Amino acid sequence: MSLADKVVIITGAGSGIGKGIALHFAKLSAKLSLVDINPDNLRTAAKECEDISKLKAFTVTADLGDLKNAKNVVDSTKQAYGRIDVLVNCAGISGPGGVTSDVLMNSMDRVININLISPIALTNYASDALIESKGCVINISSIFGTTCIENGIPYAVAKAGMIHFTKCAALELGEKGVRVTSISPGPVSTNILVNSGKSQETSDKFWQYLAAQCPLKKLVTAEEIGEVAAMIASDLGTTITGIDYIIDSGMSLKRFTL
Ligand SMILES: NC(=O)c1ccc[n+]([C@@H]2O[C@H](COP(=O)([O-])OP(=O)(O)OC[C@H]3O[C@@H](n4cnc5c(N)ncnc54)[C@H](O)[C@@H]3O)[C@@H](O)[C@H]2O)c1
Repeated sequence: MSLADKVVIITGAGSGIGKGIALHFAKLSAKLSLVDINPDNLRTAAKECEDISKLKAFTVTADLGDLKNAKNVVDSTKQAYGRIDVLVNCAGISGPGGVTSDVLMNSMDRVININLISPIALTNYASDALIESKGCVINISSIFGTTCIENGIPYAVAKAGMIHFTKCAALELGEKGVRVTSISPGPVSTNILVNSGKSQETSDKFWQYLAAQCPLKKLVTAEEIGEVAAMIASDLGTTITGIDYIIDSGMSLKRFTL
């Protein structure tokens, strides 16, 4: 499989799943436009990708919570490479809040903004270029977009919105030759909780707990998400659109005992 000559925007490429996708796409010789809010992590990720592919990675340090920055990501990528073939919307944050929680409305705005509105905006801004290239969009949603997590309304609702946005966009863009899919990972041990203010210890315990809940008793890796994303973006994926691809070690399976 090769992604040579495909220009790929990956948001959240500085860490975790986004970085895993970037490294895997680098192995497949994609021309990368890497985006993250954290400049140090972004620089490191870009360097690791360049070491693999021997191709210079274009980078944009940006807070995608500001839609002007999202527009700039698309415009500057088009300027750098002349085209866009694949948009991977991966940047995301977690955010607490149950229905009765005092903190719900504090986290709602930012989580919805970064996890849902920004990917929609990026897709909107990149749509002309994607129609021209007959490209594709891959939205990194979550298993919590279709299953419930306690005390996580902003995150779960944003991810559910992303899955439905994927379907609506796939329907609209299909006849123009553009494919839109989502990937819903189960537990991948990343910095997402630490980046949202949790301690490393709490984060480690959470991943161990989730791995134990999975029938396969193991975490998913960022590399595995990268492999599926690459398959969707490649010539193997040309009839895949409008679906939510669950990769979760079986975590979403429910068990009932008689
Ligand atoms: N880790 C999991 O188990 C898991 C499971 C399902 C879905 N996801 C989703 O995968 C995606 C990546 O998460 P991760 O687990 O790799 O977390 P992570 O924290 O390791 O990576 C997220 C990246 O997004 C960047 N980012 C955050 N806010 C940003 C902003 N405003 N602008 C630009 N960049 C920003 C961060 O700097 C970070 O590099 C998220 O959308 C997350 O919801 C993660």
